[in-house]
Amino acid sequence: MRSSISNTIHSFSKLTKEQKIEWLVANYLENKKDTTNLLKSYWHTDLSKQELHDGFSENSISNFYLPFGIAPNFVVNKKTYAIPMVTEESSVVASASKTAKFWSSRGGFKASVLSTQKIGQVHFMYNGKHEDLVQYFISKKEELIRCTDDITKNMRSRGGGITEIELIDNTKKLENYFQLHVSFETVDSMGANFINSCLEQIAKTFASSDIKIVMSILSNHVPNCIARAEVCCRAEDLYKENSIFYAEKFIQAVKIAQVNTYRAVTHNKGIMNGVDAVVIATGNDFRSVEASAHAYASKDGCYKSLSDATIEHGVFKFWLEIPLAIGTVGGLTSLHPLSKISLDILGNPNAKELMQIIAAAGLAQNFAAIRALTTTGIQKGHMKLHLSNIIKSFGANSDHEKMLTKYFENKTISHSEVAKVYEELLNNN
Ligand code: MEV
Repeated sequence: MRSSISNTIHSFSKLTKEQKIEWLVANYLENKKDTTNLLKSYWHTDLSKQELHDGFSENSISNFYLPFGIAPNFVVNKKTYAIPMVTEESSVVASASKTAKFWSSRGGFKASVLSTQKIGQVHFMYNGKHEDLVQYFISKKEELIRCTDDITKNMRSRGGGITEIELIDNTKKLENYFQLHVSFETVDSMGANFINSCLEQIAKTFASSDIKIVMSILSNHVPNCIARAEVCCRAEDLYKENSIFYAEKFIQAVKIAQVNTYRAVTHNKGIMNGVDAVVIATGNDFRSVEASAHAYASKDGCYKSLSDATIEHGVFKFWLEIPLAIGTVGGLTSLHPLSKISLDILGNPNAKELMQIIAAAGLAQNFAAIRALTTTGIQKGHMKLHLSNIIKSFGANSDHEKMLTKYFENKTISHSEVAKVYEELLNNN
């Protein structure tokens, strides 16, 4: 058995990449030489590209590939996009593409940006008279904005900057706890670094012997940075047979996700399949988008569907509102060569346009999932692609792949069943 103490290492970060792998393989991988070779085989052959990727994060030993796919035929606000999507999940890109095509002949996606406000907070403790703090804040407010002038200069020239600073009393929730609640407009950048730099400067300027700063950091809760995407058509155009009945069933599925948290989380996960894939492809921070989306889904006090649907006067309408604090400049968007290509493919949108594209991708994914769930069931399409992954994982040749695909055409697919049939195939050859 491995002793975890003997595996402790100091200054791992100082080792070269080769030494890191050597140490890892010796300590955790039973000295398997093929693992070393495999890890190295994923290094980029162009040293400068590899160095660029190594620079994104620490202690890197190799590259972890994810598929970079395209969902074409996305008509958003009458413009046709081929949307880049990075995801490991089979069916996601296929269903986005299928849904995009479906809606392209029904007017496409109508998208808009409802708001673009970002938030930062300076959290502090204050044990004095409330009135004195309010007076101090009022007397300092101008200075708090001015002290960031050097940091906000470029942002202001692009139409952004600090839009408001408020003092908030949180003492009912936690003794002596107050905060400065700072609102920002960050135009085309996600703005995390910009916001945090401003906040730290504001905190320094605001601190006093009575005001003890705890921390200064942006908030990933952005309920006023919202994109909306919508599709609509006559209910009878929604599905080939019995479509009024079908549109109603679709709406029931959405309403269930509005009242049942277990369903809502899965429903929203389906939305995020589309959202994250574009967020990652464009070099944006998917953890922040995920966090904000789920917080927003809980804004009414219980977790709900981010999308909604109606049929009124025979017209089916399906829409999504989602917070999207993303950018098209700065951060990884301009550093990662593939994010740059993604943005090129999208015609180098500004942040607002990208928010609308991402919202459309999320709605498309949600539509595809609900349509599958309420008609054929999700496994049919899903398992077709999953089957191909299972077969590939066995290292099957293309003849065997074709035979297995044919064999499982109308059968239930499971890993063990595919393995069994594959073994029989090999034994019979
Ligand atoms: C799977 O990744 C996503 C779905 O579960 C979403 C949903 O149930 O709506 C299919």
